[in-house]
Amino acid sequence: MRRTAKHNSLQAKIIQRCAIRRQFIRVGTGVAGTAAAAKFTLLQPKPLWASPRPVAPSDTVRFASIGTGVRGCELLSASTRVPGIECVAVCDLYDSRHAAAQEAVKNPSVPATRNYREILDRKDVDAVIIAVPDHSHRHVFEDACAAGKDIYCEKPMSHTVEDGFAMISAAQKANRIVQIGSQRVSSIVYAQCKELYDSGQLGDVYSIEAYWDRNSPSGAWVYPIPPDASEQTIDWNAFLGSAPKRPFSPERFFRWRCFSDYGEGLAGDLFVHLISGINFITGATAVPKRAQSAGGLFHFKDGRDFPDLIETFYDYPKFRVYLRCNLNNDQGEFIAFYGTKGTAIIRGQSLTFTPQDTRPQPEGYSIYGWPAKLRDEYLENFAKEHPLYEVKVAEATQNFGVPEGYSDLVDHEANFFHAVRSRKKVVENEEFGNRAAIGCHLANYAYFNNTIATWDEAGRRIKA
Ligand SMILES: NC(=O)c1ccc[n+]([C@@H]2O[C@H](COP(=O)([O-])OP(=O)(O)OC[C@H]3O[C@@H](n4cnc5c(N)ncnc54)[C@H](O)[C@@H]3O)[C@@H](O)[C@H]2O)c1
Repeated sequence: MRRTAKHNSLQAKIIQRCAIRRQFIRVGTGVAGTAAAAKFTLLQPKPLWASPRPVAPSDTVRFASIGTGVRGCELLSASTRVPGIECVAVCDLYDSRHAAAQEAVKNPSVPATRNYREILDRKDVDAVIIAVPDHSHRHVFEDACAAGKDIYCEKPMSHTVEDGFAMISAAQKANRIVQIGSQRVSSIVYAQCKELYDSGQLGDVYSIEAYWDRNSPSGAWVYPIPPDASEQTIDWNAFLGSAPKRPFSPERFFRWRCFSDYGEGLAGDLFVHLISGINFITGATAVPKRAQSAGGLFHFKDGRDFPDLIETFYDYPKFRVYLRCNLNNDQGEFIAFYGTKGTAIIRGQSLTFTPQDTRPQPEGYSIYGWPAKLRDEYLENFAKEHPLYEVKVAEATQNFGVPEGYSDLVDHEANFFHAVRSRKKVVENEEFGNRAAIGCHLANYAYFNNTIATWDEAGRRIKA
């Protein structure tokens, strides 16, 4: 809009009135009338869930990891920071990963095997971590439930909608503690955001936007193939499990996320974190009613089954969600809650809350088209009817961060091991994990079928 002398004089009038009122506010309350410095809070980690006190040897939780690839080793390494637990076995189909797991857990003599059933047969194993590719979650999980083990199962919980419900029944029938591995839900940043959301400071939130963008071959799962990978060092048939039989393929073994026989592409890998975070913060317990997806394979045309850009709109009962994952840009990880009173944005490990000034303000734009007399009358009447209208305090933005070295993964594992010991609830049980995974399946269904995916709650299925 081009400013004119008229505009300026009207603006001056409004400002003049505001100034008198602001002066009063400053003296009366000490609140600054213009931009206040953003407040920064360093969030304090809670004491580790697993053990507020030293744990007696008889209370030590003994666990094993099934799958000790990239994630299994990360989990084992983080587990060394959780008190009161002991890794007593590791299992993987690729021999070099036995040594990697022993190194991660800092115990070169921890027994290692290719056969997870040997671990499930052991009576001294209380719990297992399942960190195998997604298509194998279900069968390892069901066997672990039948063997009476508590389970930390990596995300996304399921490879198909059917797998998820079968896993829920297996866990509930065997009365097992189950934690699904979207560690963000144990983050102190997410807990702070949930507190803001629950307190009503955001007002009504109808719109949520989240993305996770990475721009590198590693971000696109083009992982290097180790030089010793062969049919001798890898049990290829056990890797395939229930997936279609194929000749040995190191590309498929190490880059399984690219292929729909084993993974779910960006939805299963990254949407699941965003959906879990959104469900945790908002307390949503319903699967979105509908999903619409768009995207394409633009850059990583290496024979993969999935797009390298996917965008999905979800209809939740109380709000609408937009998600995006783009492997052609590196904007990182972001979730925004847009409310009628404020906006909360999580970027990686930091949170910003920006409140809005929602007090009534006189119309400043459309009255430019009024003659001066009417404008003056309007402004005077408005001031009488809304004595506080002239105060336009720029509310302080609040920023929150985490201390150096903070790990939500350690908190998430600790939350699980605490539940194993206490039989109390975990933060992300099988029902939660299943709902988040269905969100991923909805996105892929909509994308691949070029349709609106609808969730049929009664029929427990996705339909067009
Ligand atoms: N929460 C997170 O942030 C996060 C991060 C990475 C991976 N993950 C999840 O962790 C899981 C594993 O991913 P990854 O990156 O470690 O994959 P990976 O390929 O690096 O490791 C998987 C390992 O599982 C082993 N394996 C497969 N079937 C097995 C079986 N039947 N018995 C024993 N071992 C078996 C393979 O030999 C392989 O070494 C996936 O579900 C993935 O989605 C989660």
